[in-house]
Amino acid sequence: MRSLVVRGFGSALLLGSLSSLGCGDDGTSDSVVFPEDYASTYTEVRNCRANGGSHDFNRIRVLTDESGLVAYRDRTEPFPEGAIVLKEEYDSNDMDCSGAIKQWAVMQKLPAGNEELLNWRWQQVDFARNVINEDEPRCFGCHAGCPPPDGYDGTCTVP
Ligand code: HEC
Repeated sequence: MRSLVVRGFGSALLLGSLSSLGCGDDGTSDSVVFPEDYASTYTEVRNCRANGGSHDFNRIRVLTDESGLVAYRDRTEPFPEGAIVLKEEYDSNDMDCSGAIKQWAVMQKLPAGNEELLNWRWQQVDFARNVINEDEPRCFGCHAGCPPPDGYDGTCTVP
């Protein structure tokens, strides 16, 4: 019940910010790289767990879009360009990640030639789908330190 109330509150804020800011249609702000209804097509690749102490919130879950699924799950082939890896972040007390999502961290595969970014786009997105930051050096700086066996091609969540 509590989570339903929180979700309702989030939607109200989202509608409010869309109408007041005209979010994203002026071409100046970074746009969110994953769709609002991603839950209907993305697949969970890492189940609900505590983070490794590296992000702001304590419970996380990782999903990929269809194109990123095999590379993330099997860790044998390269990620195709455009593949999305999405981390949902939940309250530290939300043991099964069933409550409201507090924010997302997301990676989108870029073509070779973006080695300084580890060939990924990096976004932090708040619960109302505002892009909080994009391609922050701390993101790829830290992810560069996740080599196998814990990490794979810039991703860090252990299987
Ligand atoms: C201090 C290190 C550190 C920083 C800074 C950091 N990450 Fe991470 N990230 C990790 C670790 C470790 C994980 C594995 C899961 C966990 O512990 O949260 C992870 C997991 C992720 C995942 C899930 C996919 C995966 O397996 O890697 C995404 C997406 C992600 N981070 C994006 C970001 C973005 C975007 C930023 C910057 C806004 C960022 N990270 C900053 C260390 C970091």
